[in-house]
Amino acid sequence: MDRRDFIINSCAACLSATALAGLSASCKSIQYVSGKLSMDGVLLNADDFRIMEQGKASYRSFIIVRNEALQYPICVYRFNENEYSALWMQCSHQGTELQASGDFLHCTAHGSEFSNKGKVTNGPADKDLRTFPVTTTNNQLFIDLRKK
Ligand code: FES
Repeated sequence: MDRRDFIINSCAACLSATALAGLSASCKSIQYVSGKLSMDGVLLNADDFRIMEQGKASYRSFIIVRNEALQYPICVYRFNENEYSALWMQCSHQGTELQASGDFLHCTAHGSEFSNKGKVTNGPADKDLRTFPVTTTNNQLFIDLRKK
């Protein structure tokens, strides 16, 4: 191996390691849960939002409910221990599944964006997302799929 090959191989290895670290970090930050489905909705544990690091608790701003019985995932945002929003992750423009990123949802098809309460913040979509009521009882969340 000459010097040029060594440098090229070393750079490729560094870039791969960096890409994997970034991928690992982004996967770690999104919590996917399947929830417990009932006839009327989905039951979640409020602790699914909690992150324990070095003995300290903090909370994810959102988790994603992905269940094979649901046609699209549901993104659940936590505002405080009693206030949540549950958003159907189907773009209101042409139906593409949305990506959650921080406090907004993004559509990779044509660039629409929605707030963490499901409001359109950037078109071409012109309708808000479908949302569901969320109630909390005894550290559990119930997402009522019967209502809009
Ligand atoms: S399908 Fe989402 S912006 Fe077009």
